[in-house]
Amino acid sequence: MKIGAVREIFAGENRVALTPDSAVQLQKLGHACVVETGAGVKAGFSDAAYAAAGVTVLPSAAAVITVADVVVKVRGPEPSEVAALRKGQTLISFFWPAQNTELLEAAKERGVTVIAMDMVPRISRAQKMDALSSMANISGYRAVIEAGNNFGRFFTGQVTAAGKVPPAKVLVVGAGVAGLAAIGTSTSLGAITYAFDVRPEVAEQIESMGAEFVYLDFSEQQTDGAATGGYAAPSSPEFREAQLKKFRELAPELDIVITTALIPGRPAPKLWTEDMVKIMKPGSVIVDLAAERGGNCDLTVPDSRIVTDNGVTIVGYTDFPSRMAAQASTLYSNNIRHMLTDLTPKKDGVIDHNMEDDVIRGATVTHDGAITFPPPPPKVQAIAVQKPKEKPKEPTPEERRAREAAAFRAQTRNQVLLLAVGGGMLLLAGLYAPASFMSHFIVFVLSCFVGFQVIWNVSHSLHTPLMAITNAISSIIILGALLQIGSGNWLVVILAALSVLMAGVNIFGGFLVTRRMLAMFQKS
Ligand code: NAI
Repeated sequence: MKIGAVREIFAGENRVALTPDSAVQLQKLGHACVVETGAGVKAGFSDAAYAAAGVTVLPSAAAVITVADVVVKVRGPEPSEVAALRKGQTLISFFWPAQNTELLEAAKERGVTVIAMDMVPRISRAQKMDALSSMANISGYRAVIEAGNNFGRFFTGQVTAAGKVPPAKVLVVGAGVAGLAAIGTSTSLGAITYAFDVRPEVAEQIESMGAEFVYLDFSEQQTDGAATGGYAAPSSPEFREAQLKKFRELAPELDIVITTALIPGRPAPKLWTEDMVKIMKPGSVIVDLAAERGGNCDLTVPDSRIVTDNGVTIVGYTDFPSRMAAQASTLYSNNIRHMLTDLTPKKDGVIDHNMEDDVIRGATVTHDGAITFPPPPPKVQAIAVQKPKEKPKEPTPEERRAREAAAFRAQTRNQVLLLAVGGGMLLLAGLYAPASFMSHFIVFVLSCFVGFQVIWNVSHSLHTPLMAITNAISSIIILGALLQIGSGNWLVVILAALSVLMAGVNIFGGFLVTRRMLAMFQKS
């Protein structure tokens, strides 16, 4: 089959649905690839790069559509693009069938099969085709970069000769795919990052990424994402009030707010109200990733960047993936390539549109002259259900003191017991052993006890200096052993050799571990 990619005609769209690399992979499936001239230029892929990858470059979109069996695109098609398609042809692109019923009808009338990349079901097997996630990931990353670009300070705290810089405080509202990408980027840049989501099961993910989950003092169970295929449902008015109250408390402290909260099929919930913007510090930045659906912030102007009277910058761009067109095209074209891999099970260049397959069925919105949207629910559950994490209960000062006293008592009891047993055994040995042996033995036992106590109580962060000291002790052992190794007594020779061996392992092992630890802090 021929797979053809056309140039995006939506103003400002820089992405392309086929890259030279993905074309190479498609050819391995037995397909031939064609591309409209200049389709990849804005994403950094020249016609020459396509030609070198074995792709035929054609002079116009019409030429591509004429020869292609499958047309691939990024943005949903314009009516003129649907009108140019013919019966039996397949279109793979974003489509948003629920919002584009007229286009859906037109595609059906023309007998075109449409695979909507936004309809790929969210099941584990389909993750490699999940273009919504790959684009959301880019949006989350870019939102932080965009925030940094508009924020006049560092993300990370620094102590410099010129003065101390506090770390930036970032709040991410909504921890879906975009939110988690934003959290990861923000923490890796060194900002103190807080995050909130109505789905409590994400608390663990947030904390594992080094951010702090913002808990609400609210008894009602928050939305169970697992029940809604991983998506959030609208919150109750009381819950919303508790959420806004918490945000109002945080607002004066925050430097950057990134909002990503969405509820499928609804306008974005308003979570960052005008009064919150007013109490933010001048120079703070809000990046509203929900701008396309009306925005999470009251003052967001979609597709624009505004600065409020109190100096807060609000970024409402809706084209974050297109602003990273090379990366976005690479990931999107991989998603398309994986979809075509599933559509070509025998890798023989023949497309088998298997409507029994959960993923293909879910994404197909028109097929064989019929509208096949909405699809039946997939047979596999949307996402793995995770048990929500309980908010850790802070102990009261009395409880903490009682716990510390109990731990101290237990420790003292153990030590007294140990001393009593040790003293008893020493007395027993003294009854039978000669006096010269006992004086050495007592020194040996006491040094073991003191050494153990000292090493056991060293905190983990000080283990490297500790290693240096044990190396010094090992050196003394080696010296002693070398002096004894020439002894005429075979037992002494064996013991001395063993001491050299063990102390040697300790010394060289210590060097190796220290080297590895130092390498972790070295920039390659
Ligand atoms: P989304 O873009 O629809 O929503 C973004 C986030 O906003 C969600 O986490 C949602 O809970 C949150 N939100 C909604 N209302 C809110 C409010 N009032 N306050 C705070 N946060 C609010 O979601 P996205 O990114 O598409 O992901 C939804 C879920 O699906 C995630 O759990 C994700 O991990 C999961 N997923 C599963 C996949 C798979 O199994 N194949 C693939 C992709 C995502």
